[in-house]
Amino acid sequence: MAKIGVMASGSGSNFQSIIANVLSGQIPDSEIVLLVSDKADAYALERAKKAGIKSIYLDPCGYGGRQDYDSKIADLFEKEGTDLICLAGYMRIVTDALLSRFPNAVMNIHPALLPSFPGLHAQKQQLEYGVKVAGCTVHYVNAKVDHGPIIVQAAVPVLESDDEGRLSKRILEKEHLIYPQAIMWHVMGMLKVTKRRVTVEGVAQAGRGLQVL
Ligand code: GRF
Repeated sequence: MAKIGVMASGSGSNFQSIIANVLSGQIPDSEIVLLVSDKADAYALERAKKAGIKSIYLDPCGYGGRQDYDSKIADLFEKEGTDLICLAGYMRIVTDALLSRFPNAVMNIHPALLPSFPGLHAQKQQLEYGVKVAGCTVHYVNAKVDHGPIIVQAAVPVLESDDEGRLSKRILEKEHLIYPQAIMWHVMGMLKVTKRRVTVEGVAQAGRGLQVL
């Protein structure tokens, strides 16, 4: 049984899609063991409660710094025997204090086609830049923000009628598809990381790794 941990700061709709896919068996032989949030009012905490998932709010102010905070989080996940940590709208930079204890086992989802538009407000950045194709990326996390090896991406067309809200909503729909897919591959041991390249073993070549328009 793969033990999945989740970290979230906000609404937690990606967390919800992970819950749904674990419950339906699309992510097989897995359970979500713990949700950690850095925000007391994160709706993700509510979602955890409703789903009967153990959750904790950890106030970052109570720690000496980022490394201390992340060590505490790593302790909590380790105690649960966590195999994979999924950042799902987690708005803090994750340091080596956590990453070194979960090598190649921390994932993130970002609402743009990396390496374009890393950082905050990616949907707004894409709209303002004028790209015609936006999207989202699931990647392993390394010490550099939004930079780790890419697992899967989905493209989303930018429409002339789009504003930030509309584009974000359509990107989010794709996020809810590709994040569970990446997690499924990971827990089934299908992902191989060679330098920056992530390959998916054991599925047909066609359609693998990239969801097109
Ligand atoms: C998503 O757009 C995700 O890509 C980004 O933060 C947002 C979180 O949304 N990292 P939610 O909390 O999962 O609804």
